[in-house]
Amino acid sequence: MAVLPIVKYGDSVLRNPTQPVGDIDAALQKLIDDMVDTMYAAPGVGLAANQVGVAKRVAVIDLTVGKKPGNLHVFINPELVEMEGQITEEEGCLSIPDFVEDVTRPERVKVRFTDRNGQQRELRGEGLMARALCHEIDHLNGALYIDHVRGFKKDRILKKIQKLAKSGMWG
Ligand code: NI
Repeated sequence: MAVLPIVKYGDSVLRNPTQPVGDIDAALQKLIDDMVDTMYAAPGVGLAANQVGVAKRVAVIDLTVGKKPGNLHVFINPELVEMEGQITEEEGCLSIPDFVEDVTRPERVKVRFTDRNGQQRELRGEGLMARALCHEIDHLNGALYIDHVRGFKKDRILKKIQKLAKSGMWG
């Protein structure tokens, strides 16, 4: 188990759709363990594999950040199969640290995925869980939450990141 460096905005691995997982082998189990360690250390409520530089369709979510057992979810090859309602809340991302912005997401979703034991499963999520699922599946598709932010709010974030990058404080 290891805490891995988190890739920051600007790295192309965040912009390329990840590859579906075939075999759930020892290497994948290790990746999942490392992703969980990395998410808890950050700390964050979700992490996608491409955020640690691995272009595989795997994400982890724990809304309690490891504080309550039984809340860790591992999603292999997740797909959104149902979306309902709409809600706007503040959202952030470990790959875009220290920024948050309002993002409109579905209020309820259903995802289909494989768990780390190879079982096909479905999960319904609402509120923060629905938001986390949409956020992580976006990552796996090469999208970021700021893609849902428009106009001057988005320009403001991107300008600040450019400034940080110029002074060597990004990436
Ligand atoms: Ni993120």
